Amino acid sequence: MCGIVGYVGGASSSLDAKDVVVEGLARLEYRGYDSAGLALVLEGSGDGPGLHVDKKAGKLANLRAILDEAPPPTTRTGIGHTRWATHGAPTDANAHPHLGAHGRLALVHNGIIENYAVLREALEAEGHEMASETDTEIAAHLLERRLDAGDDLTTAMQQVCSQLEGAFTLVAVDSQDPDRVVAARRNSPLVVGLGEGENFLGSDVAAFIEHTREALELAQDQVVTLHPDRVEVTGFDGSPAEGTRYHVDWDLSAAQKDGYDWFMRKEIFEQPRALADSLLGRRGLDGKLQLDEMRLTDGELREIDRIVIIGCGTANYAGLVAKYAIEHWTRIPCEVELAHEFRYRDPILTRNTLVVAISQSGETADTLMAIRHAHLQRAKVLAICNTNGSTIPRESDAVIYTHAGPEIGVASTKGFLTQLMACYVLGLYLAQVRGTKFGDEIADVMAELEQMPRHVQTMLDKAEDVYKLAHAHEDSSTVLFLGRHAGFPVALEGALKLKELAYLHAEGFAAGELKHGPIALIDDGLPVFCVMPPRGRDQLHDKMLSAVQEIRARGARTLVLVEDGDEGVARYADEVVYLPKVPTLLQPLVAVVPLQLFACELATVLGHDVDQPRNLAKSVTVE
Ligand code: G6P
Repeated sequence: MCGIVGYVGGASSSLDAKDVVVEGLARLEYRGYDSAGLALVLEGSGDGPGLHVDKKAGKLANLRAILDEAPPPTTRTGIGHTRWATHGAPTDANAHPHLGAHGRLALVHNGIIENYAVLREALEAEGHEMASETDTEIAAHLLERRLDAGDDLTTAMQQVCSQLEGAFTLVAVDSQDPDRVVAARRNSPLVVGLGEGENFLGSDVAAFIEHTREALELAQDQVVTLHPDRVEVTGFDGSPAEGTRYHVDWDLSAAQKDGYDWFMRKEIFEQPRALADSLLGRRGLDGKLQLDEMRLTDGELREIDRIVIIGCGTANYAGLVAKYAIEHWTRIPCEVELAHEFRYRDPILTRNTLVVAISQSGETADTLMAIRHAHLQRAKVLAICNTNGSTIPRESDAVIYTHAGPEIGVASTKGFLTQLMACYVLGLYLAQVRGTKFGDEIADVMAELEQMPRHVQTMLDKAEDVYKLAHAHEDSSTVLFLGRHAGFPVALEGALKLKELAYLHAEGFAAGELKHGPIALIDDGLPVFCVMPPRGRDQLHDKMLSAVQEIRARGARTLVLVEDGDEGVARYADEVVYLPKVPTLLQPLVAVVPLQLFACELATVLGHDVDQPRNLAKSVTVE
């Protein structure tokens, strides 16, 4: 939530800070797009020392228009922000950056300063006048007050952060010290990009990937000072600290649309490769599963007597699928819970509980707070995550990285499929360690998983048929989704995609629940997607078929996803989408693909912004 960029260049740098900041914001715009702004540090010539600040409500395009109309002078130092509003409506005044009382300092912020009301009152009592309703502006005033008292920006940041409560990434510049950009983080993301004679800051590496792939990860409660030729890290108390350096293993092309109209569509089509990458290196030479980032010992894993999977949104649905597979393969009781509900109901956890936290971004505040709670209760935490070095994996006892590459479309697609893959691998790994499956059984499932990139490609090859289906439903105001067993979470995910992107009333139901209420919704011509389980599970299959018949008899228009060769279903279907034959537990990997394509296309036809749906943000870093 909110994207932040910072840049400081030296005499040798040929980059204009404005360009670095605006391009960085463009790559981070998926994090929030209510308003955007930048502050550039002017040096002596032309306008004289000071700040050039532009900010505007609405998407980044609005800011770009201002900059095109009245281009600022070339500068070496700047910060920028793209906002997802928390305190104060998305207006020009509430857009970041915010300035100190005399306009010497500019500040951008991601997160929520929880004690801002008290601090604001105190500042106002001293005569400070605020120009916005934001929590951020008080931090700008506090920082500038320290600068005026003689502190440098680094010291001022250390001091002020110690006064703040809540979650924040702050990035500031002082107009009287153009060679320095200072940032701080607590519970909100921030990464440093290390250049030569120039350095960068971003909420994630996408912000600076076109300039450098060398990055520095920061820990909680650290302040980082960027100069053109060096980067210094300290704690909030000023004690020296170090970040962890790493190389980013993807490049600019991964953060570009590559000819697709939307990142989301590109990411849907990347799924075969993403799935293949998520399986790389999972088997040792002896054929056994190995998980590099598994920092829990076999002994600890054998002691696990309960698994609780937590996540939000799509990640939660990945967890719901995982439950079917993990319980079946390991016989360990497995619960799935929304991360934001988990902590507040005071869950019963012991040192033998394994909490599996699923998060594409690794920064979702609800999930992060939930794992902290789990740790306090002595449970073990394993993260399934797509973002190297993000907070959730850093704070977990073990990690399975999903290796999907950057996911930029706000609605998760390849993130979801690779989360499923990681869950399957985790289930099989636990079965291996605990001996609940024979080696050859595990190898058989792994062989099936290795076929999944090919099967997903088969589904993508049918995209045009699915698009036609979407066009035919342009006027629908409600779409329902039905599934059973592992197909139930697929129904939920299909409905979520449609809500997020097409802003339609869409609901997913367990088919067995139909007669207990949802069937009352069925009306003439109402489109209902039905996910048919493979025939291998005859009871499941037949029960689902009865549900299809029951809704069709009441006028529903049935859009049935069914495995190849299951011809008997066709006569109860108004439309059929055939799925490759795969085991029941793995079917979600193929069944969800047409639902992603359907939502993406329908939203496109309806004229919506697929990558940046209204009111949403990709990475929800506030609770
Ligand atoms: C937001 C996004 C969803 C995503 C959820 C969890 O709500 O819009 O697409 O599924 O966050 O995100 P995470 O990064 O934790 O997987």
